[in-house]
Amino acid sequence: MSDSKASNAMWGGRFASGPAAVMEAINASIGFDRKLYAQDIRGSIAHSQMLAKTGIISAEDQERIAHGLNTILHEIESGAFAFSTALEDIHMNVEARLAELIGPAAGRLHTARSRNDQVAVDFRLWVKDEFFRVAEALKGLIRTLLARAEEHAATVMPGFTHLQSAQPVTFGHHCMAYVEMFARDLSRVRDAIARMDQSPLGAAALAGTSFPIDRHMTAKALGFREPTRNSLDSVSDRDFALEFLSIAAICATHLSRLAEEIVIWSTPQFGFVRLSDSFSTGSSIMPQKKNPDAAELVRAKTGRVNGHLIGLLTVMKGLPLTYSKDMQEDKEAVFDAAETLDLMIAAMTGMVGDMTIVEAAMKRAAGSGHSTATDLADWLVRTLDMPFREAHHVTGRAVALAEARGVDISRLSTADLQSVHPGITDDLVLSVQNSVKSRKSYGGTAPAEVRRQVKAWKKRIDKA
Ligand code: ARG
Repeated sequence: MSDSKASNAMWGGRFASGPAAVMEAINASIGFDRKLYAQDIRGSIAHSQMLAKTGIISAEDQERIAHGLNTILHEIESGAFAFSTALEDIHMNVEARLAELIGPAAGRLHTARSRNDQVAVDFRLWVKDEFFRVAEALKGLIRTLLARAEEHAATVMPGFTHLQSAQPVTFGHHCMAYVEMFARDLSRVRDAIARMDQSPLGAAALAGTSFPIDRHMTAKALGFREPTRNSLDSVSDRDFALEFLSIAAICATHLSRLAEEIVIWSTPQFGFVRLSDSFSTGSSIMPQKKNPDAAELVRAKTGRVNGHLIGLLTVMKGLPLTYSKDMQEDKEAVFDAAETLDLMIAAMTGMVGDMTIVEAAMKRAAGSGHSTATDLADWLVRTLDMPFREAHHVTGRAVALAEARGVDISRLSTADLQSVHPGITDDLVLSVQNSVKSRKSYGGTAPAEVRRQVKAWKKRIDKA
């Protein structure tokens, strides 16, 4: 594949002998940046068209270049292209092959361009495409959560703080909390696209160029809103990659929290959900086991994504302007984070979509742990005009009585409750259903409110 003896074709005039094998190994990026082949070819065709339009190269040469580049695209996609490590990266692999195919005209393609703006534009195009993929995947996940929320708008489950039963909520409401989280991730993706939607092509090595290029033309041809405004920044900025990684890390963190809940919910002790066979595995030794592997792996892969963010931040933190070879390390981090995130979202969408909700177990758990105690306190405030602090105290006595009797607070008789406070009447019915139904404040857990939010999101998500 590589020939370390030969002097490099691209700068052979200056270097008499080829690089040492270890130099080639540390220097080459073709092993991973070949992923950018389509963007590289697209960028080069746009660049050549601009060079012809501005009269920098001839129309005939441009045609030869474009034809050669399309041949290379076909060769790569059909697996016929021979990548060479000695040619270091995707840019030089493509250009060297172009020279083989079309001869001297190939040498004109790199006029008014450098690999520095070339890699910047290729990578931006790739990251932008990936942002759109993530946005679509997130929309799919959100729609799945909306469907589950609608189906379970009135399914009662315990709401937790400190992972201790706090107040009853509905499973639909819980799903909608994740809709909010993933919708924020989606809006972060949209914001980031708007910020990075600029073409660095034409910044050349770092200072711009003396050729009469048209950067607006290439920006438009490549689907960018506009060209970047500063040539130095254009070749040294990797904010778009850092933003991708930070959005990915936040999104992965959200996925991980839901994954952790699925792990907890699917234990025999909770039994709130049953995962389908497609998203769980058995144990080779314990026949009774059904493990939530997909959820555990979503939880675990968050570590990788977060690691890539810290990795690239660390690469970038001390770099003087403008380009340094350090920046070649940006790609593997982003490629791996992207592949990992795509897989995580897909696995989560699958799990959420086909897990079975065990309503009876959720309801049973929702009614334990004196979860309706706050409803008693609220009743005392509302009906007897008691200050909340006093009501809290009275309710505490009711909880103590229920504990002494070994029952849940909702099981105490009216007579028992009257022994705690004589003002209590049998108008008071403590139940998980009444509890959730009463919480109809904006954004609260009442089934009617959950349904209203689901409806609003179903409309909103099409435009998100
Ligand atoms: N493979 C390089 C990278 O990924 C391309 C840019 C090389 N530029 C340079 N001046 N050596 O960053």
